Amino acid sequence: MSFRKDFMWGAATSAYQIEGGVYGTGKGMHVWDVFTKEPGRIFEGHTGDVACDHYHRFREDVAIMKEIGLKAYRFSMDWSRILPEGTGRVNEEGIAFYNALIDELLKNGIEPFVTLYHWELPYELYKRGGWMNPQSAEWFGEYAALVADRFSDRVKNFFTINEPQCFVGLGFLTGEHAPGLKSPIRDTFEMAHNALRAHGRAVQQLRAHAHQPLTIGFAPTSGVCYPETEKPEDIEAARQMYFSLPDPEHWTWNVAWWSDPVLFGHYPEEGLVRYEKYLPKITDEDLRLISEPIDIYGQNIYNGRCFRMGADGKPEEVTRYEGFGKTAIDWPVTPECLRWGPKFLYDRYRKPIYITENGMSAHDVVSLDGKVHDPNRIDFLARYLGELKKASDEADIRGYFHWSLLDNFEWNKGYSERFGMVYVDYRTQQRILKDSAHWYRDLIQKNGAEL
Ligand code: BGC
Repeated sequence: MSFRKDFMWGAATSAYQIEGGVYGTGKGMHVWDVFTKEPGRIFEGHTGDVACDHYHRFREDVAIMKEIGLKAYRFSMDWSRILPEGTGRVNEEGIAFYNALIDELLKNGIEPFVTLYHWELPYELYKRGGWMNPQSAEWFGEYAALVADRFSDRVKNFFTINEPQCFVGLGFLTGEHAPGLKSPIRDTFEMAHNALRAHGRAVQQLRAHAHQPLTIGFAPTSGVCYPETEKPEDIEAARQMYFSLPDPEHWTWNVAWWSDPVLFGHYPEEGLVRYEKYLPKITDEDLRLISEPIDIYGQNIYNGRCFRMGADGKPEEVTRYEGFGKTAIDWPVTPECLRWGPKFLYDRYRKPIYITENGMSAHDVVSLDGKVHDPNRIDFLARYLGELKKASDEADIRGYFHWSLLDNFEWNKGYSERFGMVYVDYRTQQRILKDSAHWYRDLIQKNGAEL
């Protein structure tokens, strides 16, 4: 049981969560820039206007990555920093920022993995219907072409969209995230379909404009279902549930509706029946676009639910015992998800896998000794990564990106949740490596041998 020799130990962030708006530099607004100014939307009225001020401090942040020994860094580009109106006019200052970041990473021997879309829909495109507009696939394609033109001489690895489950589900169904709408279910299926078309168009455009052969994937999410025991019937129960589809009002929380069309070129049959009255027109041409071949499969995995096969031959959930472990954000601690998630995904989709996000929030504080002790995070990582190591024997797992490098703007929860390996004091912008960052450095050096 071991990780590949070239295993990509990394950490991840996203643009709005760390950069700071820096609005005087030609950047356009996106839906989060607007949403965070709406009263009552975000915890204590926090915004990403300054965040970790990474825009100005990226050199210090790359030095921290180097100190931790990261081999790879996954970050996202803010579409509206590069194309202020989403299409057309290019903001060269935005391009220069990402160029400098990429150069700094390479100078320090850190492999950049770029995500094109981590939820920053340009506001100008939102006004034109955003993901509801079928043109959105072309808009996103134009952006992807530009990114490839300008950066793919040095960047080889790209993810198109991050967690469509969230930006459609939380942004347009529950309204907790930007733009804060409670849209009809039908609209959300249409948006999802267009977002998947946009993914496909981006894959085409990245390749068409690439300066070298690229490795391209996307980075969906969703809770994992894992088996209570290793009995084949329990494994089967968990697998069935992992790829099952929820009720229409929660429909975005699943794997198969998003990943089957990308990898297989068709939506799951069960969903076509179950969701029939909500579906937009789906053409063969759409499905060909959506299933444009990709090279790698990214998945963000945080937790899961446990299943066994019931006596009636139907999967049944194993309820959590009282006092079950949870993180500060109240998510359950379920290390098994990092074994069974990648295994089930690999069995089904047969693509090399990257865990594009995994981590936990904790009530981290600076102690009297000036350090940040986060034993819970170390314990969490030891357990989760131990399970991932088991999965490495059963699936082709290429890398792991810890969420997150830095404490950052946790969307509607503002700065109240700390997911970083590096503590950020938002009053001074001082960074302090938490104990877990030191632990991770040792782990990377030994390629996880002690797990
Ligand atoms: C998102 C991140 C987020 C993290 C923790 C994922 O859903 O991609 O942006 O900060 O989980 O909630």
